[in-house]
Formats: sequence, structure tokens, C-alpha cells
Amino acid sequence: MTQERTLSRSERLRLLTQTTRDTDMGRLLRMFWHPIALSRDLAAGKAMPVKVLGEELTLFRGEGGQAHLVGGRCRHRLTLLHTGWVEGDRIRCMYHGWQFDGTGACVERPAEKEAAPPPNAAIAGYPVHEYCGMVFAYLGEGPAPEFDLPRKDVLERPGALVVSTKETWNMNWFQQIENSLDAVHVSFVHQALRVGSFGRAVTASLPELSYEENEAGIEQTARRSADNVRKSDWTFPNNNHVVVPGLTKDDPWIDFVIWMVPQDDEHSTRFTLYALPPGNDAANKRFIDYFSKYGSYNAEDHCQELFLEGKAPPEGDLLAGLISAQDFLAQKGQGVIADREDELLGRSDLGVVTLRRIFWRELDALRENRPTKRWHRRAKPLELPTQPGLKKEAATA
Ligand code: FES
Ligand SMILES: [Fe+2]
Repeated sequence: MTQERTLSRSERLRLLTQTTRDTDMGRLLRMFWHPIALSRDLAAGKAMPVKVLGEELTLFRGEGGQAHLVGGRCRHRLTLLHTGWVEGDRIRCMYHGWQFDGTGACVERPAEKEAAPPPNAAIAGYPVHEYCGMVFAYLGEGPAPEFDLPRKDVLERPGALVVSTKETWNMNWFQQIENSLDAVHVSFVHQALRVGSFGRAVTASLPELSYEENEAGIEQTARRSADNVRKSDWTFPNNNHVVVPGLTKDDPWIDFVIWMVPQDDEHSTRFTLYALPPGNDAANKRFIDYFSKYGSYNAEDHCQELFLEGKAPPEGDLLAGLISAQDFLAQKGQGVIADREDELLGRSDLGVVTLRRIFWRELDALRENRPTKRWHRRAKPLELPTQPGLKKEAATA
């Protein structure tokens, strides 16, 4: 019988931030579907490189429209496969013409004599699934789980406007996850340069907090007053769903659904869906116009301009760019990989503590070959309250 060595505190903290296949967290994360690209960035017959959980991969779309995810390098002499070309539902390496199908199997080696390529000429291949304008992939062992946990009813309302964006942040994924369960930060981080309807929605008052684990993740409640209760519907392991005010006082609140996906331990992609309810043509138009101008913002440049060079926020950017820059500044300030050994947590860090306990519980189970929790989509969607009082205030947009 092997004796399990007890991990030190610093080892346990480090576990949270490691995402490659040979680490405990890397294994745990690979049990879930993750977004890896925006569908609109992948035209039929084209290939692109993607980096996910420390793996360099090739994402390509067959000429018929089906997306495929295979290894990043050719099995022959290892050149980057996305530099080749797509033929039907296969991709051909540009160096000596080896051809691979969507499962990663090598199906042709033109300069070799024997008929069939051997099985060991295959590269990795992973299942993909497109949902709401994003390509999701499953990088784990065995068959992929049903595509269920990432789904949200608000994204599937007929006639709802759903807009997707992505942004790379050069820092570890886990401090971003922790931030989504740190409701106190809103009373400080988002006080810097308050603009637009979100600026009016945040107050400096401190919330009463509660965190409840459920079948999909954690329900976060931050109660500041009777008509200022913010809830987050957080889904394991890396999705957060909140609502934010619309662009003007007349617009409906917007569902904001974000996945924070490690590219590697020092870079992450933030894939976001914004969803507006059906039946609001004027609000939809404002939102589409807004996104055509500001939707591809880079938080790092933006926070540099705003907070370090003292520039005014761009006129009209009332939502995502500024909020994102505020969050980026706080989290990047923790370092590329926050050194949690030197922290001093308090009672107001209940969300961070709850989150880490859940992750450690799951990681322990995995390491000790016990079953991990079977997370599944909430049977009944969580109602995320808006702030009705804001409607009465003057619009700033
Ligand atoms: S390196 Fe790809 S075919 Fe030779
Ligand atoms: Fe924030």
C-alpha cells in the first residue's frame, strides 16, 4: 500500500495555479468542456493555432463547416500544422504533405511507399462543440461528458441577442477565478473612474456575504441594501455569470457570462458572452454599435492609459472596457502568478476561502483515486436580481 504524503501549505497553494496535463489541477480541468476560440474567427477551410492548458493545438474548420481540434505539430518532423492547408475535413502539413483527419489520425504520407500510415503516426485529437458563437473543446481522457454544464437558459432564449468576445490576460487563471468570488472588490476596484450605468450601480458600501455550493458551482450573494443585492451564478470550474446594467437607463440589464481559460500558467483567455433579452430592438442596436467600437478592447492597454497615463476614458465606452481595466489592474498587481503564501486573509475573503476548499476537496479526491463531484447544470436557473432603484436616476449615457 502506498502512503500518501501530506502536501505542505505552499504545495497546496501552488496546486491551484498549475494547469498542464501532468498536474492535479491540469487533470481536473481536463474533465470539463472549455471554450477555446470564437466561431467567427475560424472560417471554413482555415486553420489557426490555439493554446489551451499548456498544449499547443491546431484548430481547423473543414470545408463543410465542421470544426476539428488536433495536435499543434505534425508527427513527421514537427512543424506547426496550422501552417498547412485544409482539404475537405482533413489538414495537410505544408512541409512534406502528411495528412491528418479531425481525430488526429494520419491518413496519408505521400512520399512513403507503404499504403497505410501506421497508428503511431497519429497526433492528438479532441472533441469540439460549438455553442453561442464559441468553439468548446474537451481535452480529457475517455469520452467527453454531455455538453450540459456550460449551457445557460438566458443564452438560449429565442430572439435574444448574444454577443461573444475574447481577451487575453497575461496572468494565471486562478486569481481571475478568485476575483469572481470576491464581492468586496466591487466596493473598491470599481470606484476608480465610475462611468456609465455600471458606475452608477456600484456603491462603496460593504456587502453582507453568503456563498452556497450547489449542483453546478457556487451561488454568491452580496447584499448592500434591500434593493442592492448582487448575485453571481458561478459554475465549476471557471465560469461566472452576473448581470450588469444596460448602456442607458432604458435598456434591459445584460447577462454577462465569462469563462476564464488557461492558455498556460501565465496567460489566460477570457471568453465572454453578453446576452440581451428578446424584444428590445433599440437596446440591441445600441449594444451592437457599442460593440463594434469597443468590443475588442485590450484591458492591459486600457488600464495603462487610464490609471498610469491619466487619460480620460474614451467617450462612449460605458461598460466593458473600463470594468475590465479596473479588474485587470487589481489582479495583475498581484503578480503574474500571485504568491498566496504571503497573504493575510480575513472574514471578508469568505468567497476565496470557499472556492479554494472546494477545489482542494476535488483535487484530493482525484489524487486519491476517489470519485470527484458530478457537477451538472442547475435544474432551475438562478434569478439574478437587478437594481430597480437605478431606473429612477438620471442616465449618464
Ligand atoms: S513535417 Fe509534416 S510532413 Fe514532414
Ligand atoms: Fe470586478
